[in-house]
Amino acid sequence: MTSTPKKRVAVLISGGGTNLQSLIDATSAANFPAQICLVISNKADAYGLTRAQKAGIDTRTLPHKDYESRSAFDEALDKALKDANIELICLAGFMRLLTPVFIEKWTNKILNIHPSLLPSFPGLHVHQRAIDAGVRFSGCTVHIVREEMDVGPIIAQAVVPLAQDDTADTLAARILASEHEIYPKALEWIASGQAEIIGERVFLDQALSVPDSQYHPN
Ligand code: GRF
Repeated sequence: MTSTPKKRVAVLISGGGTNLQSLIDATSAANFPAQICLVISNKADAYGLTRAQKAGIDTRTLPHKDYESRSAFDEALDKALKDANIELICLAGFMRLLTPVFIEKWTNKILNIHPSLLPSFPGLHVHQRAIDAGVRFSGCTVHIVREEMDVGPIIAQAVVPLAQDDTADTLAARILASEHEIYPKALEWIASGQAEIIGERVFLDQALSVPDSQYHPN
């Protein structure tokens, strides 16, 4: 019996890697349509590298300070990904902006997770900004990466209600738990072809149940 080969995924990190861990856990299932073949960090001390090594995944450190420009860094990154025959890239707390040239090379192949309901609150300090804005709901978004930061076709979102006494830390912790739910789902849908990117929208297979396609774990 022949089965569809799993998509070869690289995860790019800069830090603790709890989202990476959720992807490692999900992709370890025999029937998951993707496998993580490489984890790359721009920081040598990122704990996510240890998570990957514990799971037996190849790791690379590309310290951005070793490169004279963003494009030189992105060229090295591109080579490392090509050398490992990577097909999809997941950004998981990767704190580097990618150049338009790199993003163009990997059009519709780069996923990112962001801790707000995009297009609200792109950028940094999102939890405090959501609290300051007095919104009743925030959440997280997995999207396809475009040139502009935190912009691109939305694959999955989860809604997280705000509590009156939330601090940036308490809100971040609840949103992070939802991130761990939706990132593996989004990767599964893209890797399996159940999610199709058409222009700037992502269309989900009708066969996905409604709670799945409008993901709301809370
Ligand atoms: C997450 O909140 C993610 O949304 C943001 O950076 C954080 C990374 O956390 N882009 P971790 O390294 O996955 O724990």
